This record gives sequence, C-alpha cells and structure tokens, in this order.
Amino acid sequence: MTHKPTSPTPTRGALDALAAAIAEFNTSRPLETSIAVALDTLRQSLDSPECSLWLHTADGLVRTWVAGEAQAAEAEVDAALAGTGEAHGVRAVKVIAGDRNVGALVVRLSRPLQAEEGLLLTGVANLLAPELAHAERSRQLEVEVAARTVEIDRERRFTEKIIDSLPVGLYVIDREYRIQAWNRKRETGMQGVSRDEAIGRTIFDILHRQPFEMLRREFDEVLATGRIQEYQMESAASGDPRTYRITKIPMRLGDSAVTHVITIGEDVTDWREGQQRLSQAEKLAAIGTLAAGVMHEINNPLATIAACGDGLGYRLEDIQRKGTEVNKDLFDYIEIIENEVLRCKQIVDQLLDFSRPKQLAKSPVDLNEVVEKTLFLMKHHGGFKKLTLVKDVEQTLPVVPRGNAEQLVQVLMALIINATDAMGSHGTITLRTRTGPSAADGAIVEVIDTGHGIARAELSKIFEPFYTTKAPGTGTGLGLAICYGIVQDHRGRIEVDSVVGKGSTFRVLLPTIEW
Ligand SMILES: Nc1ncnc2c1ncn2[C@@H]1O[C@H](COP(=O)(O)OP(=O)(O)OP(=O)(O)O)[C@@H](O)[C@H]1O
Ligand SMILES: [Mg+2]
Repeated sequence: MTHKPTSPTPTRGALDALAAAIAEFNTSRPLETSIAVALDTLRQSLDSPECSLWLHTADGLVRTWVAGEAQAAEAEVDAALAGTGEAHGVRAVKVIAGDRNVGALVVRLSRPLQAEEGLLLTGVANLLAPELAHAERSRQLEVEVAARTVEIDRERRFTEKIIDSLPVGLYVIDREYRIQAWNRKRETGMQGVSRDEAIGRTIFDILHRQPFEMLRREFDEVLATGRIQEYQMESAASGDPRTYRITKIPMRLGDSAVTHVITIGEDVTDWREGQQRLSQAEKLAAIGTLAAGVMHEINNPLATIAACGDGLGYRLEDIQRKGTEVNKDLFDYIEIIENEVLRCKQIVDQLLDFSRPKQLAKSPVDLNEVVEKTLFLMKHHGGFKKLTLVKDVEQTLPVVPRGNAEQLVQVLMALIINATDAMGSHGTITLRTRTGPSAADGAIVEVIDTGHGIARAELSKIFEPFYTTKAPGTGTGLGLAICYGIVQDHRGRIEVDSVVGKGSTFRVLLPTIEW
C-alpha cells in the first residue's frame, strides 16, 4: 500500500502545503506563530522540486503535502520511523502527544538530511504534536457527533412513525403558534395539508376554517393554565357531518412553563352514534315499561266503562221495547262511548305491543318475501297507489334464521305508510333489500322516500310513542315505536338517514346468525 496525498499540488512548496494541511486540521485555532516560523525555516532549507515532505497520522492516513513526488511505500515510512529508511532517501519523525503517537512527519530527499534540518524536523514534529492531537480529537468528536446525529435522526424517525401510525390527527405548536409537528392523518383527507407546507408556519396560516380569535383563545388557555382542554366539534368539511373530539394537551420541554401544545383530533362520529343509540334504547325501554304499567291499569277501567256502556244500551233498548220513547241522542252517546273505548283499547294494545312485543313463534324468514307480502297488502292503499314504486331486491339475500314474517310485514307496512304520508300525491318510494356488511347486520331492507324529510333535531324523537307531527286523528305516533319494539325483538336495529326537503331512508338491519 502506498500513501498518497489527498490533494497533491506539486507546484507549491512542501511546507506551504504542510502549513495549509495543519491549518485545515484545525481551522478554529490560528496556527501557532512558532510553528509558522519553524516551518518557514525548514521551507527555506528544504524547498526544492526533488524534496517532498508530508505528514501522516497515526491511523495511517496521509493528510497532505508537498512538492516533488509525494509518495512512499508504507514499508519505507515504517523503515524511516524505525530509523533505517535513510538509504531510500526517506526520513521520518514521530509526532508524539503525551505518550501517544499521533502521526509522523516524513521527508524524502535526494541528498542526506543535514543535522540542523533533522533537528528542525524534530522541532516541527514536537510543535505539531498538540495541533495534531487536537485535530485528532476534533476528528473523533466529528465522528461521535455524526454517530449521534444518525442516532438522533433514527429516534426522530421512530417518533415520527409512531405519531404517523396513530389513527388520529395530531399536530404540535410552540408558544409562537408555529407548527412543530404534523402527522400523516393531518395530511390526508379533503382538509389535508402536507407536512412540508405546515411545519414552521403558524397554525392560523393553515387552519383557515376556524375563526382566528377562537383558535387563539383555545391555545392561550392551555399555554396559560397548563390544563388539558377537551371538547367536541361538528364539521362537514369532508362531506358528511362528522363529530370530532378535540384534545389540547400542554407539553413542557423543561420543567416549568408550557412550551408546546399538542392537539389531537379524533373522529368520534361512530362512537357517538353508538352512545346515542344506547341512550335511545334505554329511554324507549323506560317509556315502554312505564307505558306497560299505565296501560295495564287503564285496561281494567276501560273494560268497566265498556261493560257499563253495554249495560246502559240494553237498558235503553228495554225501556224502548216497553213503549217509552227514548231520546235518540242517548243511543248516539252510547255509540260514541263504545267507539271511543274501542279506540282506547286499540291504542293500549299497540302500546303493549311496543313495550313487550308478542313473543310470537320465529322461523326462517326471507325478507324478499316480506316485501312481496307487504306490497300485496298495500295494493289498495289510496295514497300509495299514486306513487312511483321502485323495487330493488337482491336475489341472493341471506335468510333471517329467526323471524316472524307477520310482524316484519307490519314493520314494513308502517314504514311505507309513513313514507306515503311524507310525500303527498307524488314521489318515488323505493324498497330495497341487500346483504349487510356482517352477520349481525346480515340482511337489510330499506324504505326510501322522496318526501319532506325529518329535521335533525326531530330524529331522536320519532321512535318515542305518541310522537307525531300529523294532524289529530290522523296519526297516533305509535307506528315507529311499534316497529322499534318488533325489530328489537328480532335482535336487529333501525337506522334513519334523512335530509329535509329531499327525503328519508328507513333501514331495518336484521341478524343472519342463529341466536
Ligand atoms: N318517512 C318519513 N318522512 C318524514 N317524516 C317521517 C317519516 N316517518 C316518520 N316520520 C315522522 O315521525 C313521526 C312518527 O312516526 P310514527 O309512525 O311513529 O307515527 P305517525 O305516523 O305520526 O302515527 P301512526 O304511525 O301511529 O299512525 C311522524 O309523525 C313523522 O313526523
Ligand atoms: Mg306512522
């Protein structure tokens, strides 16, 4: 192996190159004047095209040089260091710092080295020792810094990967509201902003949709109090209205003031709908229990009223038969009593159906058949006949293993009558069946109308018994409550999508697994 200069510049004097090399080793400190003087003296003595002078370090790397042929075999340098190299015109002096060999100053000369030159060489080597040691330390430091940088970079990428893998939107701002972190989730979607675009800019430059003052107040609150803030936000920015849970978390780099705020945005729409369904189910169950109790109590007096009505009727007929004229109004009153009692009884029965639907025998049911039966029954319904019917049934629909076809016809009929009522004299009603996404929601039947729709605020009430928007005498508000009870009894559920002015979709989802 040969030692080659890193940048041989044969035209320059060897010592200039050496001085430059030393300067290059340690640019932060000025080259000691004494070294410069010694080098200058050596330069005057040695400077000639046949002479070359170089320095190499303990690890064998040749650092720089020289005039002339700046090259020597390693063996030659070793021989020179051992003091036996002079025959090849190579002389070398170790550069020793403390007790460490940090390099060698090597000279190749066609003539013998004079004693003073040898001394000068040793002198320069001694002067160079601390410089070289320092340069070596710097180099070691550089290597350490580079290794640490790689390590930090790796850790940073690891942390970035973690926050990118989170299924929530996350960003971090500092006290100047400048974005310091921005995760993958915040880059995606319709509201997505790329990380490169976001980092370093203020949050107000990026989140235009939220009022500046409000956003600033939210951050200031966390920065000032150091307390976690949590709230929910509705947004339709990505199309459908979604609910987000926003959490702002204070972060401290030292141990005193809050230096950053971490914001996490989580889409909790499904969770919230689940919660609402649950509380709706609980509410309806409570109403059901209450209704059942009340209705049970009402049943007995109703029966008494009905019996008294009957008794009165017989008495009046008796009196009439015996020749006494009876005012016709009295018969009308009795008829009214009987009819009203009958109406009350029907309502009571319906309510009892809702609170505890009759546990009728269940067997495998094909929802497509339920659709057919319902349509057959609806055939003569006045309002329904005027509407356009679209039937979109899936032939490969899985069977509902435990169902009561009659009750399901009752559900579908109630939904179709509601749809008809919502449309007036024209519109389209679509009956659709399809396979659900899971066995729990395995078979789906939908009643889709183009009616007036239901306002968002009303949606949570429509399944409550007696909730109706229909004129007195036209609706009791029990239709959907009964549907709800029956579908519950089938371990299924009802979903509603509705847009005011556009129409509604009532979706019954039934399990296709045995239970
Ligand atoms: N398809 C629909 N489009 C618009 N509103 C609807 C629809 N279905 C139900 N609703 C609303 O929900 C309310 C409750 O419906 P529900 O079937 O329980 O009672 P009702 O139809 O008013 O009376 P009933 O069914 O007892 O005759 C209705 O009064 C109506 O306001
Ligand atoms: Mg109804």
